[in-house]
Amino acid sequence: MEDYYLGWIEQIERALSKWGCCRVEGRPRMVVVTGMGGSGCVGDYLYTIASTRDYGLPVTVVKSHRLPGFIGSGDLVFTISYSGNTLETRLAYMEALRRGCRVVVVTSNGYLERDAREKGLPCITVVKGIAPRTALPEMLLAVLNVLDTSGLTLVSRKEIEKLRKFLKDSMGRAYNEAVEIAEYIHENPGVLVIATHTPYEVLAIRGKNEFNENSKIPVKTDVAPEWAHNDIVGWEKPYTREWTVLEIIDPSDPVGTRLVDFMEEIYRGNGYPVKKLLLKGENILEKLVYGSLVLGLASVKLARLRGIDPLETRNIARYKEVVHTILEKP
Ligand code: F6R
Repeated sequence: MEDYYLGWIEQIERALSKWGCCRVEGRPRMVVVTGMGGSGCVGDYLYTIASTRDYGLPVTVVKSHRLPGFIGSGDLVFTISYSGNTLETRLAYMEALRRGCRVVVVTSNGYLERDAREKGLPCITVVKGIAPRTALPEMLLAVLNVLDTSGLTLVSRKEIEKLRKFLKDSMGRAYNEAVEIAEYIHENPGVLVIATHTPYEVLAIRGKNEFNENSKIPVKTDVAPEWAHNDIVGWEKPYTREWTVLEIIDPSDPVGTRLVDFMEEIYRGNGYPVKKLLLKGENILEKLVYGSLVLGLASVKLARLRGIDPLETRNIARYKEVVHTILEKP
């Protein structure tokens, strides 16, 4: 499974080779990204990049079978599902088509690929046969590709070429940092808390999902400054004292750094161990990808230290066997 993460450079290269393949006409009112789990992360990342770059279009993320009522025919909807079969994503896709939205599909296979091809919708297929969560860069870049090709550029092709070089140069460092984080968590086996500052809440969520799925542990996320208005009080009298903190910090953000320094005083005051992950990269995309790579590899390494198979997600499979009886029963 480590190889899937180490293959992110090839994913970027494949995405670059498809640049310009798909476009949509006109200027939408809003960009919507729907998807669940590892595929749903694409929407989070798109939202974060757009909101830190003053992108001219609003971006909405939908991780549900329900499409919010305010989404309509003027909107551009990206439907992301690695397998192409996730029921929640299929239901949101059908509803978007029913409402007359422009719909683009990003998938590797399955119902969504077949249906998009039959309907002649723009559809980008990504590498087949890996774990959905590890296909994050190729799925994200597919969306950035369509936006750029359609004259709605959020990230240019040039920036993606730079990202490729950055990742190539950073792979060794990311790997070593991941091993250190895995060993730290394994030696301090409290409930893992991933603490960060805005706009990196999406990275904390991504990290949570990675440690959930690969290492099979529950994780809490703490995000400042909102943390200082609720979680901080919860830290006054927790039921258990066994917590292990991993901080994610953008060292080029002085306010973010000071916020997390303040969080650390509370954690250390409670006697919890703390480790920092300092994000590398020159822009938000590079920082998100670097952080995701370290967290992904660390969660796989932690699974190895625990003697657990990182790839298997038994309880997700169990849910997917019955999800139609939960969502589609009248
Ligand atoms: C598994 C994983 C899951 C899936 C989710 C949705 O690797 O990451 O979180 O992404 O169950 O499935 P897909 O991505 O196929 O739509």
